[in-house]
Amino acid sequence: MIKDILGFKIFNSRGEETILVKTITDKGSFYGSAPSGASVGKYEAATLNITTSLKILSKIKENFIGLREEDYEVLEELLIQLAGERFKNIGSHLGFALSSSFLKAATLNKPYKYFEDISFPYPIGNVVGGGAHGGGTDIQEFHLIPTRAKTIKEAIEMNIEGIKRIKEIFKSYDRFFGKNDENALISDFDDEKTLEIISRVARSLDLKIGVDIAASELWDPQKGKYVYKKLGKEATPGEQLDAIKELINKWNIYFVEDPFHEDDFKKFSELRKWKRRILICGDDLFATNIKRLKEGLKYDSCNSTIVKPNQIGNILLGMRYSEFAIKNDIKTVISHRSGETNDWIISDISLGLGNFVKTGVWGGERLSKLNRLIEIWDSIDKPKMVKN
Ligand code: PGA
Ligand code: ZN
Repeated sequence: MIKDILGFKIFNSRGEETILVKTITDKGSFYGSAPSGASVGKYEAATLNITTSLKILSKIKENFIGLREEDYEVLEELLIQLAGERFKNIGSHLGFALSSSFLKAATLNKPYKYFEDISFPYPIGNVVGGGAHGGGTDIQEFHLIPTRAKTIKEAIEMNIEGIKRIKEIFKSYDRFFGKNDENALISDFDDEKTLEIISRVARSLDLKIGVDIAASELWDPQKGKYVYKKLGKEATPGEQLDAIKELINKWNIYFVEDPFHEDDFKKFSELRKWKRRILICGDDLFATNIKRLKEGLKYDSCNSTIVKPNQIGNILLGMRYSEFAIKNDIKTVISHRSGETNDWIISDISLGLGNFVKTGVWGGERLSKLNRLIEIWDSIDKPKMVKN
């Protein structure tokens, strides 16, 4: 039974305030803390500041005290009701942190209680960055993806080896300038040179390459153009489509996230028609919202989606979104945010609900997710990687 719920104002990996929630039951204390985005889509759930979130928690917690923590879905449904439309009454920080602590209380920190078929997602590792996360490129993220790995540990290790090699190459040119919000490497090389270096490393380790263009951040609605500030270039939607096609062909890219802005379902589908084998993924486009994914299915915009529970408000809604995506043959990428805490709950929900899990490759708040997967792999009988 839930005895009390406490809230604390803490800091995330970017030094911004966030919330830590502690749910106390007769069986122990269970913690959840909330991430925050920097490139936040306009269709995401509402966010409230942390002082307000703590005040709201002290008002609503009476609704949960006395309820059975085993009834996880009951707790989450109640939270959804209290939260109102777009989580406006509660905000997604409190929503995520509360539901993370509820899920851990319900399962006693064991992720596999809910899923019979435990297969592990392939980690998509953000190795070089730019855009809203800081760095020399207009493209927000460059990824390594170890699709041939046999175990989760091997997969994580391949990405770590990859980032080390890229770092050495940047250093050899005297162009390594540190790490950004997601612990991805920063240099002042442009998009093309960065891809040249990454593809060299990817080939040497038999890894695939991904990019998150985060095109809503580049889109200027007044001009009707994508603005590449660092390159000093602008592109109409048609030119953007051509540029993305060229990028995919030239660098043999396997995963492309948000190549167009969050309202352009049609351009996504033109890209899909052009090449069906690669993963075209919607992040800001869908915002973990089933209604928006249905729109995407109508247009055949994507064959893959980012899943960020805090975009929709809480974990249960994030899991339902994943289930819906999987039923419709859309590959799921359970994702961290750029501002993170050590909460590993996204790893737990990626087991059975994720084809991929997207995080940084190193840094404590990223490794907390990856190390959680290693721990679970080593604790269960016959773990296996997911079939993609
Ligand atoms: P965000 O970026 O967490 O800063 O929104 C992550 C992403 O765009 O995938
Ligand atoms: Zn993204």
